[in-house]
Amino acid sequence: MDEVLDSMKKAWLGTGPKVHLFESDFAEYKEIKYAVAVNSCTAALHLSCLSLGLQPGDEIITTPMTFCATINAIIHAGAQPVLADIDPITLNIDVREIEKKITSRTKAVIVVHFAGRACDMDPINDLATKHGIIIIEDCAHAIETEYKGKKAGTLGDLGCFSFYATKNITTGEGGMVISNDESKISQIKMLALHGLSHDAWTRFSDSGYKHYYVEEAGFKYNMMDLQAAIGIHQLRRIDDYWKKRKKIWNRYLDAFGDLNIGLPASVENDTRHAYHLFTIRINPSNVGISRDEFLEAMTQSNIGVGVHYLSIPEHPYYKKNFSWRVEDFPHAYAFGREAVSLPISPKLTEQDVEDVINAVRKILVNKQIK
Ligand SMILES: Cc1ncc(COP(=O)(O)O)c(C=O)c1O
Repeated sequence: MDEVLDSMKKAWLGTGPKVHLFESDFAEYKEIKYAVAVNSCTAALHLSCLSLGLQPGDEIITTPMTFCATINAIIHAGAQPVLADIDPITLNIDVREIEKKITSRTKAVIVVHFAGRACDMDPINDLATKHGIIIIEDCAHAIETEYKGKKAGTLGDLGCFSFYATKNITTGEGGMVISNDESKISQIKMLALHGLSHDAWTRFSDSGYKHYYVEEAGFKYNMMDLQAAIGIHQLRRIDDYWKKRKKIWNRYLDAFGDLNIGLPASVENDTRHAYHLFTIRINPSNVGISRDEFLEAMTQSNIGVGVHYLSIPEHPYYKKNFSWRVEDFPHAYAFGREAVSLPISPKLTEQDVEDVINAVRKILVNKQIK
């Protein structure tokens, strides 16, 4: 709050020194050369796709188990989104499905580290190298995720992050692109601020007026200092929040072990999970209640629940405009029909967590088919 107030007192609200500090802190946290702060992960994904120099008809492969922003970024960049189904255990994109979808038009794969679980990047990167494909990581759930000692967002070519209000750290709205590729990063930076020539944000500085030049038809995707003021301090608390979510995650696993519901798979060796979503699976033939009835009963018990996500081919826009059929992505479809995300915010008290557990058990224990 003091940092936000400081921005207000200095009357520097837009992109400025705090955005630069947040970028360099984030790059240091990620052990990577470059970070560009933007106003959402959607913007980060869009600009990352645009940095590929796409031609009409180019294809980008991604997962059907993601938020619509992943798909829309591909569409708005002018490419064709191609879906590859998930692994039913990890819920991450399945490398064997990616391989089946590669064509001469494939330019990139966007992997999503779903719920904070690292995708198995070695075989994906091998495939990318073999076919000359760029890897973009959608790390909206995965700020703290690691794979074999390397941090999510540094495992491919470009990493995209979200600081939306529900994310592991937040700036209200906000995002970041990270990369070691200087030319892609400088293009992304330019496109994020109208396509203006380098460092145009300094054009009103004390050292006098500087002309700016429009190099591309860009976007208004820059982060504000007001947002970065929050982000700088959120980043300093990231491990504390992570430990609190991990504790809640383990408490839920313990509390639900005897129920006939699907629970998150155990965390793979040599990886770090970001514990962004704790998602259970409600299959009516196992528990005698439908997923939607369960959502309703939880809401009636005053517990906030979510669905992450209905699979992408279920949404009307994609149905109308693409030839995807839900049965072609059976694992994503089945998960999307059974998934329920339980609260896992570090702000939950121990009593809150017990209230969630009691509500789940009360609803399911009587209903379970023996
Ligand atoms: C997997 C995934 N990708 C992208 C986004 C978009 O993030 P933002 O809201 O910062 O644009 C989200 C947000 O929920 C997400 O969950």
